[in-house]
Amino acid sequence: MKDLILKLEKNRFLDDDAFKALLTDGREETLHFLNERADCIRKKVYATDVYIRGLIEFTNYCKNDCYYCGIRRSNTAAERYRLSEEQIMECCAAGYELGFRTFVLQGGEDAYFTDERLIDIIRCIKRSYPDCAVTLSIGERDYSSYKAFFDAGADRYLLRHETADTEHYSRLHPAWLSLENRKKCLYDLKNIGFQVGCGFMVGSPYQTVENIISDLKFIKEFNPHMVGIGPFIPHKATPFANFQQGSFELTLKLLSIIRLMLPGVLLPATTALGTIHPNGREMGILAGANVVMPNLSPVQVRKKYTLYDNKICMGEEAAESIAVLKSKLDNLGYKISVHRGDYKGESCEKSH
Ligand code: 5AD
Repeated sequence: MKDLILKLEKNRFLDDDAFKALLTDGREETLHFLNERADCIRKKVYATDVYIRGLIEFTNYCKNDCYYCGIRRSNTAAERYRLSEEQIMECCAAGYELGFRTFVLQGGEDAYFTDERLIDIIRCIKRSYPDCAVTLSIGERDYSSYKAFFDAGADRYLLRHETADTEHYSRLHPAWLSLENRKKCLYDLKNIGFQVGCGFMVGSPYQTVENIISDLKFIKEFNPHMVGIGPFIPHKATPFANFQQGSFELTLKLLSIIRLMLPGVLLPATTALGTIHPNGREMGILAGANVVMPNLSPVQVRKKYTLYDNKICMGEEAAESIAVLKSKLDNLGYKISVHRGDYKGESCEKSH
């Protein structure tokens, strides 16, 4: 298996059979060797820097109905909230004080937040904090909206593709959503000039090894600046309440594989990974991840942004606990960077 891993490191890709062999090998030594090689490659590009992003979950209203997601519109038990522009600016002020230089505005697909309202918010943040990056994570919109957000100063956009297999996509989403449109959005965002992130859930219902190989192929082809992956975790008020959560080890394995495929990628150790294991985020970093996204949302709304059950939001993963995270990472030999943390892969032409 070591041969395969070294081949992956050298060629930055493998054929289907080799990927399948690697993904289905359950040995601990395989995972360790993979994690080590990924850590080494990350250090060549990003040294021991870990970038922090302040996550502001500004609305949990959503017109969509993805079967896995706790804030899907059919979940009438969800307590809905929206932050005002003032509240969002307060989050940024608190985050800036704590050392954050990227703010991630994440929300459901909420029609209240028209292009106009969002443009106002983006402009306001960029005017107040010109040294900070603004990342949007607000789902599918038209090309013209994405362009307007970019022109208003937004720098990055996260839109997980969720699965690169059409059939699998239709088992996770209502009929009006399609993989085709998802991909169109991703290519639009990239063409406009955003640093773009795609990604998927590990162990989502009905996912096969072949589906994961399709995800890796899509990621290779799309060549994103960021990749967000985390384990699927069931939410009790969704159709997938009784499915099993994704595997922790497989998530670590995939983080390493993605690092070896795309050495310059910005790769978060996600909240979902931290939710299923007490040292999940730290182990993600050791597996090749180089980003963490602590929660900057107002404390009173954090529990309402529940994409899945038991989501961590009040402990060490919270932005206020950045000092704890810092010392944990220090002990592992990594340091939190106070810079924006832009992509260091091939140069991107249209960045702000
Ligand atoms: N488990 C894990 N991740 C989830 N997401 C949504 N619901 C869940 C869940 N139940 C992820 C999706 C989405 C991102 C914001 O959160 O991949 O793109």
